[in-house]
Amino acid sequence: MGKMWFLFYIIVTLSYIPPLHCRVLPQPSKTNILNVTASIQKTQKVVSFDPNKTISFTQQQQSFSSSASLTLQLHSRHTIQKTPPTDYKSLTQSRLDRDSARVRSITTRLNLAISGISKSDLQPLGTGSEFGSEDLQSPVISGTSQGSGEYFSRVGIGKPPSPVYMVLDSGSDVNWVQCAPCANCYQQSDPIFDPVKSTSFSPLTCKSQQCKSLDLSECRNDTCLYEVSYGDGSYTVGDFATETITLGSASVDNVAIGCGHNNEGLFVGAAGLLGLGSGSLSFPSQVNATAFSYCLVDRDSDSASTLEFGSALPPNSVTAPLLRNHQLDTFYYLGLTGLSVGGEFLSIPESAFKIDGEGNGGIIIDSGTAVTRLQTETYNSLRDSFVKGTKELPSTDGVALFDTCYDLSSRSSVEVPTLAFHFPEGKVLPLPAKNYLIPVDSDGTFCFAFAPTSSSLSIIGNVQQQGTRVGFDLSNSLVGFLPNKC
Ligand SMILES: *[C@@H]1O[C@H](CO)[C@@H](O)[C@H](O)[C@H]1NC(C)=O
Ligand SMILES: *[C@@H]1O[C@H](CO)[C@@H](O)[C@H](O)[C@H]1NC(C)=O
Ligand SMILES: *[C@@H]1O[C@H](CO)[C@@H](O)[C@H](O)[C@H]1NC(C)=O
Ligand SMILES: *[C@@H]1O[C@H](CO)[C@@H](O)[C@H](O)[C@H]1NC(C)=O
Repeated sequence: MGKMWFLFYIIVTLSYIPPLHCRVLPQPSKTNILNVTASIQKTQKVVSFDPNKTISFTQQQQSFSSSASLTLQLHSRHTIQKTPPTDYKSLTQSRLDRDSARVRSITTRLNLAISGISKSDLQPLGTGSEFGSEDLQSPVISGTSQGSGEYFSRVGIGKPPSPVYMVLDSGSDVNWVQCAPCANCYQQSDPIFDPVKSTSFSPLTCKSQQCKSLDLSECRNDTCLYEVSYGDGSYTVGDFATETITLGSASVDNVAIGCGHNNEGLFVGAAGLLGLGSGSLSFPSQVNATAFSYCLVDRDSDSASTLEFGSALPPNSVTAPLLRNHQLDTFYYLGLTGLSVGGEFLSIPESAFKIDGEGNGGIIIDSGTAVTRLQTETYNSLRDSFVKGTKELPSTDGVALFDTCYDLSSRSSVEVPTLAFHFPEGKVLPLPAKNYLIPVDSDGTFCFAFAPTSSSLSIIGNVQQQGTRVGFDLSNSLVGFLPNKC
């Protein structure tokens, strides 16, 4: 009898030992201060014309010396645009238009992957006129909207390296650059890359693994042609080849890259794209990177930050599991357990952020999407909670996809509830106020920068990532976040 009680006692005691992951972690403060004056000043700076901008930018490039072997400087879109937008309101509108196109192309691409359209079902490239645009009627969306490229880097192509601006895109895999001779090239700020002038340019055969890994390819005299087309009408078609790519002071040989002779899209002068997705043709996959990290500078800032390959996650970063969708290997999915507003966990079903058996749902992190998209019910819950915590702020009409806006023209700073992402094992990533309450004009109108999506796929966008170093530890399947480390 005594023995039984003893056992009972042990069982009861054991069951009260809290599991490790339930230990109390430091909680972020419940509110955040938004410096309204500072945000408005930045919007005015973006639209003011600075004739020296391009010059100082060039100097910045030259003075850059890298300590890590593969490091790139990242610039936000507006720093490479030659003419400034007329006003911040129209800048916001064009950003949001690009953003909607981007989200549409991501969801279309995923839906095509899930619906199981296999390579053999794809309409082949035309066989008649070479690189004719009539060849481009394929329904395939092999990447994401170029038009929404928001971050750029200077990359050297070939030997000797021709320096060009490239869009950096974590939402697609295939690297490409506009190539001479052009059947159709859009305007770019650097001279068009001419493979004839590079000693390292080498066309890929149709039998190569790289050619077989393309979603859409065609064989012409045993050389591999690639095509990437995007949901917004942007596309690139040309020869698939290997080339030397130079980042900072380091070069990588034999990187598979599209040499695009027929290209169309709103690329703001960038010569091409570096795919940072997790598919086999992406740049990180091709260089066998075990990790890479980027920091997205504030979109309204002229300063640059870096993209680094091979750097492990900083020890004090907030980590989340990096998950894969077996229907499509391009996107980086996160294990997200929930969201909180003002320290209160929202009651959202766990399924809201899970990838289901068919490959629907889940949440990805994307550098090219601006505004975080959430399933409608989740968004409503988040928004309602935020509105509840900001009752004293003067609200105003919605703007574009934003339904929750405030007139802060009479304030210099405001206190708002802290918004945080929650990951497994009690990890919490609180966001700074400027990453979710953003100016939409220079007059003091600020909007809650989240939006609903009718798709089951949620996306963490770059507005929410601004100023945070985001690391992808590919060998340990972790994503790490380190705020205020650009
Ligand atoms: C807000 O930013 C401005 C600079 O833009 C600075 O002068 C001011 O002190 C800041 N206010 C607060 C409350 O931090
Ligand atoms: C541009 O550069 C010139 C020469 O360095 C300088 O005199 C001028 O003040 C600069 N303009 C602006 C708007 O910074
Ligand atoms: C492909 O090969 C055929 C016959 O060998 C040749 O006539 C044709 O010009 C070649 N086409 C190209 C694009 O090289
Ligand atoms: C990456 O790994 C593959 C397979 O192990 C190898 O063939 C290739 O040369 C490696 N690439 C680089 C840049 O190290």
